[in-house]
Amino acid sequence: MTAFRTLDQADVKDKRVLVRLDLNVPTENGKVTDVTRIERAAPTITELADKGAKVILLSHFGRPKGGPDPKYSLAPVAQAVGEVIGRPVGFAADCIGAVAEQAIAAMKPGDVLCLENTRFHKEEEKNDPAFVKQLAQLGDVWVNDAFSAAHRAHASTEGLGHVLPAYAGRSMQAELEALTKALEQPKRPVAAVVGGAKVSGKLDLLGNLLDKVDVLIIGGGMANTFLAAQGHPVGKSLCEPDLIPTANDILAKAQGSGKQILLPVDAVVAETFAANAPSRVAGLDDVGPNEMILDIGPRSVEHVVSELERLKTVLWNGPFGAFELTPFDTGTVTVAEAAAELTAAGKLVTVAGGGDTVAALNHAGAADRFTYISTAGGAFLEWLEGKALPGVDILKTK
Ligand code: 3PG
Ligand code: MG
Repeated sequence: MTAFRTLDQADVKDKRVLVRLDLNVPTENGKVTDVTRIERAAPTITELADKGAKVILLSHFGRPKGGPDPKYSLAPVAQAVGEVIGRPVGFAADCIGAVAEQAIAAMKPGDVLCLENTRFHKEEEKNDPAFVKQLAQLGDVWVNDAFSAAHRAHASTEGLGHVLPAYAGRSMQAELEALTKALEQPKRPVAAVVGGAKVSGKLDLLGNLLDKVDVLIIGGGMANTFLAAQGHPVGKSLCEPDLIPTANDILAKAQGSGKQILLPVDAVVAETFAANAPSRVAGLDDVGPNEMILDIGPRSVEHVVSELERLKTVLWNGPFGAFELTPFDTGTVTVAEAAAELTAAGKLVTVAGGGDTVAALNHAGAADRFTYISTAGGAFLEWLEGKALPGVDILKTK
C-alpha cells in the first residue's frame, strides 16, 4: 500500500491541529440519528487531544447553497461529538475570520473546538486558494480523517494539504487498510448493490463499476430510471428522464460483456411519501400516475436473496427503498438480514458504505455481522471504480 504520513509521524503537542472530519451525519429535527461517522472519528480527536494538541474540527454538513443557513448548522452535531467522546466540544459560528480566530486563541492544549459548516462559504467547494489561506491561518498542521469526503477536491478536504503539513487520521488510515484488504482480490462472483435516493452522479459510475463486478444489483431511486428506460410507467417516483440514455448504455454494456444487471421485478407503491402511508404491491406495468415506488416488492426481495446465496462478495451502497419510513424499509431490512446471516456463516464477504446505507443496516440490526462497514458512500464507490480520490492523494508521501 502507498505510504501515508499518519499521526505516528505528527508532532502535535501545543500545536493548532485542523482536523477535517466528515460530520455530514443523518439528522432529524436537529438531532443526530446515526453517530457512526462520529464514533469513527473519535479515536483521532481523543488521540490528538491527549497528545496536547488544540484540536480544531472542520467539516461540511449537507449541501447549503454557499451561505449561512441555520438548517445546516453544525452546532447540534458538535454537541453530539461531545457526547460521543465524553469531553466538552466548543463551537465557533464561522470557520474563518475573527469569530474562529478568537475561539482558537482561547483554546488550551487538549481542548476540542468545532468550527461552523465549511460550505457556508462557496469558496470551500471551489477549493479557492484565498479561502484555503484563511483556513490555513487557523492551524499549524492539517489532519484529514474524512475518507467519506475524499472524492471532493474542496478547500478543507484537499486544498489545505498543499499549504500545511498533512497527515492521515486514524479513521482514514483504517478505511484504506480495510478496503484494500477486503477488495484487492475479491472472491468471485462479486456483486455491487447500488441504491439510495441520491441518484445524480451515481448513475454514470455504474458503467465503470460494471467493469469491476460480475453482477450489479440496482435498487432505490436509481432503479426507477432503468425501469423507465425499459418502458415501464414510474408515476411520481424519483426518476431522472435525462439519464435514460445512460441507463440504456449501461444495460447494453452489461449485455455485451456477459455481466448481469438485477433490477426490481415488482414494487411497493404509495401516493404519499410518509410513514405508514396506504401502500400496495404493484407489478412493473401497474404503477399508477399518482403513485411513487417507495420500496422493492416481495418478488424482487426473493430474487436478490437467492442471488446472494450464489455470490461470494457483496459491495453495498444505498438502500433499496425509503428505509426511514415504515413499512418501506422492508426490502432493505430483509435483504440486509440475509446478507448478514450468510456473512456470519462464512459464506459471503460483505462490505457496505455510505451514510444512508450504514443507517439502514443499523436499523436492520445487520451492520455488526457485515465484514466491513465503511463510513463512505460516494467516495467508497469512486474508490471501487478505481478512481483517484483527491483527499487521499494529497496525503501520499511523494
Ligand atoms: C457524503 O455524505 O457522501 C459525504 O459527506 C459527501 O457529501 P457530498 O456528497 O454532499 O459532497
Ligand atoms: Mg455523497
